[in-house]
Amino acid sequence: MPKALRILHVASEMVPLVKTGGLADVAGALPLALKRQGHDARVVIPAYRRAIAEADKRGISWGPVPMTIEVGGIDHQVGVGTVDIDGLTVHLIACNELFDREGIYGPSPSNDYDDNARRFAVFCKAALALPGYLRWMPHVIHAHDWQAGLIPALLQRGYNQVLPATRTVFSIHNVAYQGTFWHFDMKLTGLDWGLFNPMHVEHYGKLNLLKAGIVFADRVVAVSRRYAEEIQMPEFAYGLDAVIKGHSYKLSGITNGIDAGVWNPATDTHLPAKFDKKKLAGKKVCKDKLRQECGLVRDNDACLVAVVSRLVEQKGIDLLIEAVGPYILSGRMQLVVLGSGDLAIEARLSQLQARHPGWVYVWYGYNDPLAHRVIAGADAFAMPSRYEPCGLTQMYSMRYGTLPIVRYTGGLADTVVDVASGHGNGFTFGPIDLGHFSSVLDRALGLYQHFPEDWKKAQLRGMTADFSWDHVADEYIALYESISFAE
Ligand code: ADP
Ligand code: GLC
Repeated sequence: MPKALRILHVASEMVPLVKTGGLADVAGALPLALKRQGHDARVVIPAYRRAIAEADKRGISWGPVPMTIEVGGIDHQVGVGTVDIDGLTVHLIACNELFDREGIYGPSPSNDYDDNARRFAVFCKAALALPGYLRWMPHVIHAHDWQAGLIPALLQRGYNQVLPATRTVFSIHNVAYQGTFWHFDMKLTGLDWGLFNPMHVEHYGKLNLLKAGIVFADRVVAVSRRYAEEIQMPEFAYGLDAVIKGHSYKLSGITNGIDAGVWNPATDTHLPAKFDKKKLAGKKVCKDKLRQECGLVRDNDACLVAVVSRLVEQKGIDLLIEAVGPYILSGRMQLVVLGSGDLAIEARLSQLQARHPGWVYVWYGYNDPLAHRVIAGADAFAMPSRYEPCGLTQMYSMRYGTLPIVRYTGGLADTVVDVASGHGNGFTFGPIDLGHFSSVLDRALGLYQHFPEDWKKAQLRGMTADFSWDHVADEYIALYESISFAE
């Protein structure tokens, strides 16, 4: 019997406590999957106001004494909260002056807080002090994204003497977000100024926390196999291609799974009717109700296409807006969008809705129950992403018999197989331009309208595929075992 590992996940968000994107789904589901395999996995996140409110509902308990965390000459008193979520132990790092705010990374999705370097330096140092505080020594600390990028660096440089045998894994969820700060923030990191050079944590004159994670971690993981290849190329790496290529000896790609309990059309309590691959009738009810809810006309020929997404450049929504007009006017397609983000994209979506009343519906903001209803009620799900490190919603869609229409990139390429192959579960296109996107839309709408039997076969293939975390967790366990020391 192989030994049970102790693994501490350090992440800036996790479901169900706080979420802005897919990182939260991963930080909530992967540790649970590791637990199911008999390992002792825990998570630590910052105690944002929103996270405390959610944790309170689940009975959070607070450690008797605060920890003192010094950052840049200032001592912060940091409380440690602990809450049990479906059997998973989650710790929250509380520091009112830094985390008791309305926002997570900033006052709005497109603005960051000025003191994010300090906020996440305190978080990382507190996360590293946690094992000593709890007397629970992890074999592996798995740090996610730039917000946890200091963890591998601090550990490797001996900042924490209590954890000499702990190894680190660093996950890159999105290389576009690097946590770059001016050089004076170096003094907040607790790292030696000597490391402020291009081989270590400096990148073009700035402190770069994603780079710190990549350079110092024992292993680096990209969230899909294809993304691990892509981020070694200038087109996808946002300036870090040479750094990542230089560390490719320790890089691997592991494609995310999905929480098959939360995203299951047969048990989903958010839906007006449940369904599964044997009984698809409930999906029709979900579609009718969704159209009603969104004020869309009932037109049997129209394929209902959905988007549930952060509205940012990455997701290619601008291309979708440009392309859909002719398909909507000819009665072949209706569109439902649920999203929030870039105000310019929101404005263009509002114009589209105004031009096509009864055919386009947009809901701005974050709404989890509506996300479930949209994914269940739609026929197809569009993700014309410029890049997509993994993407989860295409997998949710496939489980719900909703065919994804995606750009062939990152995790979309790993999970969606084009119907043209004869055994596909969705539609893919290559170059990100209007011509290629329009032609994939044409193919999707054509199959929907003229070949319903083939459409159904593709639906069933998607609904049968196993995207669950359980076998993905095995890949992580093999990785952790390959680096952790025997006791
Ligand atoms: P990313 O992390 O780049 O945003 P993913 O596909 O990995 O993309 O994950 C997005 C997650 O956020 C999914 O769980 C999706 O359902 C959810 N989501 C995105 N936008 C919204 C929204 N407006 N309302 C509810 N859920 C949303
Ligand atoms: C990032 C990526 C997304 C990925 C998610 C979880 O937010 O943009 O593609 O699915 O992280 O790994």
